Amino acid sequence: MNDFIAGLPKAELHLHIEGTLEPELKFELARRNGIALPYETIDELRKAYDFDDLPSFLKVYYEGMGVLRTEPDFYDLALAYLRKAASQNVRYAEIFFDPQAHTSRGVPFDVVIRGLRRAILDAEQQLGIRAQLIMCFLRDFQAEYAMATLLESLPYKEWIVGVGLDSDEKGNPPAKFAAVYERARQEGYLLTMHCDVDQENSVEHIRQVIQDIQVNRIDHGVNILENPKLVEEIVAKGIGLTCCPISNGIVTRSTKAVEIKQLLARGVRVTINSDDPAYFPGYVAENLAAMDFTREELVQVVRNAFEITWLPRHVKDAYLAEVEAYALSAS
Ligand code: ADE
Ligand code: ZN
Repeated sequence: MNDFIAGLPKAELHLHIEGTLEPELKFELARRNGIALPYETIDELRKAYDFDDLPSFLKVYYEGMGVLRTEPDFYDLALAYLRKAASQNVRYAEIFFDPQAHTSRGVPFDVVIRGLRRAILDAEQQLGIRAQLIMCFLRDFQAEYAMATLLESLPYKEWIVGVGLDSDEKGNPPAKFAAVYERARQEGYLLTMHCDVDQENSVEHIRQVIQDIQVNRIDHGVNILENPKLVEEIVAKGIGLTCCPISNGIVTRSTKAVEIKQLLARGVRVTINSDDPAYFPGYVAENLAAMDFTREELVQVVRNAFEITWLPRHVKDAYLAEVEAYALSAS
């Protein structure tokens, strides 16, 4: 089955670029930027990854990205991810970035986005993998800061396909960002939002993103299973879920594979993704393997992924044709 997964043409729709910062690159960037890290070796660094829920993970994640300072740093980060993804036959990726995690420590928005954009262009030329950027707001910062970030992004609109919302969900419901999302929609951005797994008020947050914010898709969102009416509603609307089993396994101690399969069986456009693979070890192929899917389920989740991408219809169809050809040739 691992060979079947390896060859399958894949899309990655839930990937935080800052969460792809592998220890080797972290050390290299620290050296390049003259930053002293509190660890001597990669083993020591990995021992410091002692998170077991969302807040404890986020603390390590934000500390880790302190080594990212210059445009070449963001370029190297994104190119390393795109190389890894291409090696797993990821044909297309929609990549989250967290500009406020950088602007809040003095790194200009322009530096971040130019580095990421340049890597995407080079990767497409050199590796044949395509990618687009999704700008995430940090939900534990004020809504006014998100709005200011949205306005700051407007000159770069051509480089950003949509917006998302991430970071600590506790006490930070979707409704807090209703005005930001309304403005983002008016500006032509597509909309997604994290509804992390097993949060306080998870189901109410999911209801808000579907009915009040009216997102195009949901990141995680597995707790929707607790409300059959909402499940029916996302099936009818074709709203997809970007699930991340290895990440779930660390922040909730269950991959939620059982629940994810139930959603798939009910006709939800479930997809499998890697979230923060440098911290939750496993890129998209390992996440697919963690699901213990049948071949039919594997083909269905990659179909779902290409179907819910934010690509023009004819481009989706070309990728879907690759999936169907692969499924036929491998059967
Ligand atoms: N930022 C990076 N990864 C995240 C996750 N899994 N949930 C919320 N915010 C995040
Ligand atoms: Zn995420």
